[in-house]
Amino acid sequence: MKQGDLLYVGKAKSVYLTDNPNELLVVFRDDITAFDGQKKNVLSGKGAYNAEVTAYFYPLLEAANIPTHFFSAVSENTHLVRKLSMIPLEVIVRNRAAGSLVKNYGFTEGQLLFPPVIVLDMKDDSRHDPMVNDDIVLALGIATAGELREIKRLALAVNALLRENLAKKDLDLIDMKFEFGRDACGVIRLGDEISMDSMRLWDHGSVGASLDKDVYRKELGDVMETYAAVAKRICSE
Ligand SMILES: Nc1ncnc2c1ncn2[C@@H]1O[C@H](COP(=O)(O)OP(=O)(O)O)[C@@H](O)[C@H]1O
Ligand SMILES: [Mg+2]
Repeated sequence: MKQGDLLYVGKAKSVYLTDNPNELLVVFRDDITAFDGQKKNVLSGKGAYNAEVTAYFYPLLEAANIPTHFFSAVSENTHLVRKLSMIPLEVIVRNRAAGSLVKNYGFTEGQLLFPPVIVLDMKDDSRHDPMVNDDIVLALGIATAGELREIKRLALAVNALLRENLAKKDLDLIDMKFEFGRDACGVIRLGDEISMDSMRLWDHGSVGASLDKDVYRKELGDVMETYAAVAKRICSE
């Protein structure tokens, strides 16, 4: 497979075409952003840690019959993936209240949410990713009712698998963000990434001992030291 033209430059990853129309290369860059892109930095090595954690989880999901875009890691920061037609939703699954849920709705930080709460945001930076509901998704034609059901089923299944895996490493999975897409056959697959940028992880039993991008958002400590330690904790099993 050969790296072709640049297809898309996002906030933290770049996507390249390949000589196979069904395959893309995703490069995890060292850029880190927060607050709608207002805070930005480059942290050398960060992309590789996120790529490592993503490459650890996707094969476990596939083994559990959860369809993903992942084919293989071709270098420490580059993945070969199946090209998807992305569904412009940020599918957030929350096991405990944190972040915007506390700020906007008055939940207590760390409050247990059971069953997990699914929040759907429209992925549109120009509109600051507004929260949507099922009716808005259907009315906008973002996904069909059947697709939405499948997206939620898969999101909960991924949450359950990740939560159990991370608990064995004394990491509490507080919440996470997923992106799904359709493959050439119309099958809904998990795309994008599962990393410290897309999950909230707390040291087991704590309220707010963050081991994820909140360390960067809230300036809680050395971001790279945290990412390195968490990647090691997750992947060395
Ligand atoms: N399998 C895939 N096929 C096509 N696009 C994908 C796939 N997986 C992820 N993407 C898209 O690639 C981009 C990854 O770059 P990222 O830096 O995360 O962008 P963004 O700033 O839009 O979040 C995202 O827009 C994501 O939706
Ligand atoms: Mg992204």
